[in-house]
Amino acid sequence: MIITCPHCKKEHNIDEKRIPPNVRMARCQGCGQQFPLDIPREETPPPAQPQPSPVEMVPDPNPGSAPQSEQETRRIGVSLSKGGVGKTTTSVNLAAGLALAGKRVLLVDTDTQGQSSFMLGVKPKGGLTELVTGELPPEEAIIQARKNLWILAGGKSLAGLKRLIDRKDYGGELTIAQALTPLEKDYDYVVVDTSPGWDPLTVNVLFYVNELMTPVSLEVMSIQGFGEFLKSIASIQKFRKEVELRYILPTFRDMRVKRGSEFLEEIEKIYGEKVCAPIRYNVRLSEAPAYGQTIFEFAPGSNGAQDYRDLVRKVTGEPDLFT
Ligand SMILES: Nc1ncnc2c1ncn2[C@@H]1O[C@H](COP(=O)(O)OP(=O)(O)OP(=O)(O)O)[C@@H](O)[C@H]1O
Ligand SMILES: [Mg+2]
Repeated sequence: MIITCPHCKKEHNIDEKRIPPNVRMARCQGCGQQFPLDIPREETPPPAQPQPSPVEMVPDPNPGSAPQSEQETRRIGVSLSKGGVGKTTTSVNLAAGLALAGKRVLLVDTDTQGQSSFMLGVKPKGGLTELVTGELPPEEAIIQARKNLWILAGGKSLAGLKRLIDRKDYGGELTIAQALTPLEKDYDYVVVDTSPGWDPLTVNVLFYVNELMTPVSLEVMSIQGFGEFLKSIASIQKFRKEVELRYILPTFRDMRVKRGSEFLEEIEKIYGEKVCAPIRYNVRLSEAPAYGQTIFEFAPGSNGAQDYRDLVRKVTGEPDLFT
């Protein structure tokens, strides 16, 4: 069949039988732009087929134990296009809090800054990039950071992964999903930290996770960034209905700042139950990373630790945790 690029109008002769049924986007080899693939499908497409090796060879990272429940692994992406709103602080402390609550958690860092492993005080020799390229087998790419907590690190090498995704003619947006899906059965939760901005890795995360948690900084009033992010989610939902904005997490709550309270009231009116109890401004949260510790280790009695425990209760739906 002939597919015409909506940007440069170049015509591509494509054998549609070679396009996996779960692929929704293509990249034009002429102008390099991505565009939606609008191929009539005869039936509901089957779920994504996992890539062959190396992901098939995954051993249980903690042999002898299994995820707590028979339920599906929950995939939570922590994302907002704006920078410095508390995404990494939230990803790390949410993942650590879930692990303390006895859940098996994989934390995935998709940011070139690679801060998640730094915050946990671990130095993996590779991570997500090496997993996808097959340079490291899963048992070496994923390292155990704490009891019940494993990490697939980000870092500078993700620039290479972005290029790899960019070079794919179609299906690039499923690269991360194809790498992670076969591994996730070993975990109750996969928590994915994202970079600020909107890049091929963020798009990949939105094609993998089912639930999104969006930290919105009340201090810097990231309303505009939030609005833009909602539009971006809507554009992905056209292709992937499963991804849902599940939690809005107000961060940097400072009771002295009146505009922060007004904004909070506003989003609560619109989003109701999706709005989580705010994470207060707490200097202990900014100090903990320098010690390679989570807030529960560094300052378990702090407001920051209390607020992240509340978040774990909200996400698990288990109000009695940690009592
Ligand atoms: N509730 C809080 N109170 C005080 N400091 C905080 C709080 N949350 C995060 N911080 C600090 O604010 C800074 C930015 O937080 P963080 O790195 O989590 O944001 P981010 O959204 O991941 O940033 P980026 O977009 O650059 O990845 C960090 O120094 C962090 O320690
Ligand atoms: Mg970050």
